[in-house]
Formats: sequence, C-alpha cells, structure tokens
Amino acid sequence: MRRILTGIQPSGHITLGNYLGAIRPLLSLQNEEDTELLVFIADLHAITVPQDRQNLKKNIKELAALFLACGLDLNKSHMFIQSEVPSHNQLGWVLECNSYIGELERMTQFKDKKQKQVEGVSAGLLTYPPLMAADILLYDTDLVPVGEDQKQHLEITRNLAERFNNKYGETFKVPEPFILKEGARIMSLVDPSRKMSKSDPNPKGFIALLDDINIAKKKIKSAITDSDGTIRYDLENKPGISNLLTIYSSLTNIPIKNLEIRYENTNYQNFKEDLANIVADFLTKIQSKYDYYINSGDLDLILNSGRDYAYHYASRKIQKVYRRIGLGRN
Ligand code: AMP
Ligand code: TRP
Repeated sequence: MRRILTGIQPSGHITLGNYLGAIRPLLSLQNEEDTELLVFIADLHAITVPQDRQNLKKNIKELAALFLACGLDLNKSHMFIQSEVPSHNQLGWVLECNSYIGELERMTQFKDKKQKQVEGVSAGLLTYPPLMAADILLYDTDLVPVGEDQKQHLEITRNLAERFNNKYGETFKVPEPFILKEGARIMSLVDPSRKMSKSDPNPKGFIALLDDINIAKKKIKSAITDSDGTIRYDLENKPGISNLLTIYSSLTNIPIKNLEIRYENTNYQNFKEDLANIVADFLTKIQSKYDYYINSGDLDLILNSGRDYAYHYASRKIQKVYRRIGLGRN
C-alpha cells in the first residue's frame, strides 16, 4: 500500500496557491489503486508564529471543511488535526535532538520568516522542520505532495530519516516529495516576484478559496502585468502574465502553449476577463460544498475517526522509536 501524506497550516485563509501547490496534486493521487491518503491540519506548526485564539479555532475547522469541499474522498483518506495526535510532538522532540542548529538555521523559510517577527523569533520557528519530519516519518509515508517552497523541508526530512536509520537501525521509510511542474509556485497578484501567501497583509495579492466571488474576479482583473501587451509565457520578463497563464492552465488543464495560441490576437483585458470567470466558477463550486460541510455534524465525526486512525498508527511507531533509542523501561 502506498501512503500519501500532506499537511497545511491553519494560519490564514486557504489560497489558490495552497490549492494548486498542495491540494490538487494530493487529489490527483487519490484515485490510484492501493493508495491511502493522510491529510492533516498542521496547527502545531501554525503556533510557531503568534496566532489569535479565536481565529486559530475558526481556521482549523475552515481548513477541514475546505479539504472536503475540494474533493477529498473519505473512502481513500483519513483527515485529522495534528495537535490531537501527541506522537507528533513526541517524535518531533526526538528528531530535534538529532538535528543540528546549523542545518536548521540554513533553512530558507526560517530565514524569511525570522525577518518578519516583531515580537521576537520563537525557538519553534527554528525547530519547525524536525516537527514536520515527524509528521511524515510517523506514518511510513511514500509520497508528500507539497508546493515548491517545501522542497527543502522534504530534503531535511529525508536526511533525518537516513541519519536515524544509520544510528539506530532501519526505522523510517525515506519519503519522496511530489511537486507538480505547473502550479507548485503561484505568485502574488500584486507582486509576481513574491509567492502568493495566505498571510499576506494585502488581500489583493491572493485569492482565498472562500473569497467573495466578485472580489475574487476583481483581484484577477487588477492583477499586475506588464505593458508589453502580448500573452506569452516568459517567467523572467513577464512574471505577472506567466503567473496568470499558469493559474488558467492549472484550473482548466489546457496546456499553456494552447492558451498562447488562443489569445494571440487579443489583449490582457480579454484574457483576464476569461480567467476571472474561470476562477469564479471554480470558487463557486468549492464554496457550495464548503457551506454544506461547515454546517454539518459530519465534520466532527470525520475528524474523530481520522484522529483515532492516526493515533493508533503513530503510537506504535513512537514506541518502536523509543525502544530503539533506549528511552523508558522497555
Ligand atoms: P502553507 O500555506 O505554508 O501551510 O502551505 C501549505 C501547502 O501549500 C504547502 O505544500 C505549500 O508548499 C503550498 N503552497 C503555499 N503557498 C503556495 C503557492 N503560492 N504556490 C504553490 N503552493 C503553495
Ligand atoms: N510546512 C508545511 C507548509 O507550511 C505544512 C506541513 C507541516 C506539512 N507538516 C507537513 C506539509 C508534513 C507536508 C507534510 O506548507
């Protein structure tokens, strides 16, 4: 059985970037035979930077309902909340003790996020990757669908698994990242040199899956492009329009080459108008399913069952890890 696992932090409104970078690749694997999906809400990772209690609570539920609204098949998957499965913290600590400060300080995400902290940099922000490695290694994961920005965290996860296996004997499966060529790095709509981020203080930079439809359309229509006027994929010279082409292509499965031909004799306005409608249709479908799940008692039942499954699997693994190291009495 092949196991696929991914997590998303409930640290803001889930964006089109999250969908195209992590959720869509995850869902693309769920129909394959002999495959099981584990999906979780990385709330412990979210608190590596300050979070408002009420917002965090709301975002956790919102994210759970969104995974379902996006089409997660419950016959193939288990969904749970990270903090409800204590083995994540337990293995996180063990892996922290096998990580070097130097390698953690070299992580790009740490260096970026560190700059943005006004209340000081938490130790958790530095030890974020061993906790993420624990999330993955607890479940003998084969594949981890993520966006491009998480590639480095997957590399350190692989290193930690191999380091532990060499030191204590074969314990962990070494996972592979699953990063799509297209959509793995969706850029901000107001500054195409930056990643689209759910924590962007300027909401015009991102499309949230729960954005009001008309506002989302406006965001697409006012996305920053260049003054050259031709609809052509050129990341270096035309990052804005290239980003919109990527979004268009990913949502419709029409290759970028075909889009370039289709829009050859038109202008940015026409192109953006079409894309705005495509995004609107996509959001409308998700939002109607979301409304169902967020208001249904099913959500808690689904999360309980996911928690129980994960708890059972992960507890066995952590006991094995403790034994290997010589912790406790067994
Ligand atoms: P985060 O928002 O940091 O919790 O990210 C959750 C998942 O979405 C990770 O797999 C990220 O790599 C992915 N992701 C976040 N932002 C983007 C983006 N702008 N483009 C593509 N993938 C993204
Ligand atoms: N670090 C990931 C992100 O911000 C979220 C995450 C936490 C994750 N644990 C994970 C993703 C395990 C994949 C697997 O995007």
